[in-house]
Amino acid sequence: MERKNKLYEGKAKILFQTDDPNVLLQKFKDDATAFNGKKKGTIANKGFVNNQISAHLYKYLSSYHVPTHFINTVSDTEMTVVALQMIPVEVIVRNIAAGSLLKRSDFKEGDVLESPVLEYFLKDDDKGDPQITREEILNQELCSEEDLDALSRLALKINAVMKSFWTRRNIKLVDFKLEFGKNKDGKIILGDEISPDTCRFWDAETDEKMDKDRFRQDLGKVEEAYEDMRRRVFMEAPLESE
Ligand code: TMP
Ligand code: ASP
Repeated sequence: MERKNKLYEGKAKILFQTDDPNVLLQKFKDDATAFNGKKKGTIANKGFVNNQISAHLYKYLSSYHVPTHFINTVSDTEMTVVALQMIPVEVIVRNIAAGSLLKRSDFKEGDVLESPVLEYFLKDDDKGDPQITREEILNQELCSEEDLDALSRLALKINAVMKSFWTRRNIKLVDFKLEFGKNKDGKIILGDEISPDTCRFWDAETDEKMDKDRFRQDLGKVEEAYEDMRRRVFMEAPLESE
């Protein structure tokens, strides 16, 4: 698979074209940003850790019939992925109150939500990625109603599968962000990444933060937390949940 022109460079990843128009190469960077790029830094080895974690989780989700863009790991920091027409919506699933939800509710950090909360944010850096409603998504024709229903169902399924995966690794899946796109046949596929950059992970016993909040909130031991999450992904986990 030959790496060709750079197609897009984001804050944490670069997408390259390949000799196959339906395949892209996704490279994970060590760069980290927060608060819409206002805080900048690097997390040593993050590209490697996020590539490995994302690859494993996409393979795991595929085994539960969740369609993902992952094709192959091609180097420490690179994977090949299916080229998608991305839907400019960030889909958030929350199980425990944290982050921006605290500003929009009376929940306290750590409150367990009775059922998973699904939210949508417009993927637009200039506008600061504002929260949007289902009706706004449809009125702005960001995707069809059928697509929105399909990706919302997928997001809740991914949550159920991931919650059990992480519970068996002594991790609380607090919340996470997903991005979806359509492949050349118009099918909805999970894109982007699933990693400590895009999820909140808390140690199940101590509630210690094991994700990018360590960088966002200057909690220290950022690299150690990412590496610990990589170790937990690959550990032999008990089969039964809880
Ligand atoms: P929030 O509580 O700040 O809205 O974040 C919810 C989840 O989404 C959290 O797991 C972190 C993730 N996230 C991203 O992946 N990218 C982003 O730009 C933001 C703001 C959050
Ligand atoms: N990645 C986003 C940014 O740089 C926000 C975040 O993850 O907190 O702005």
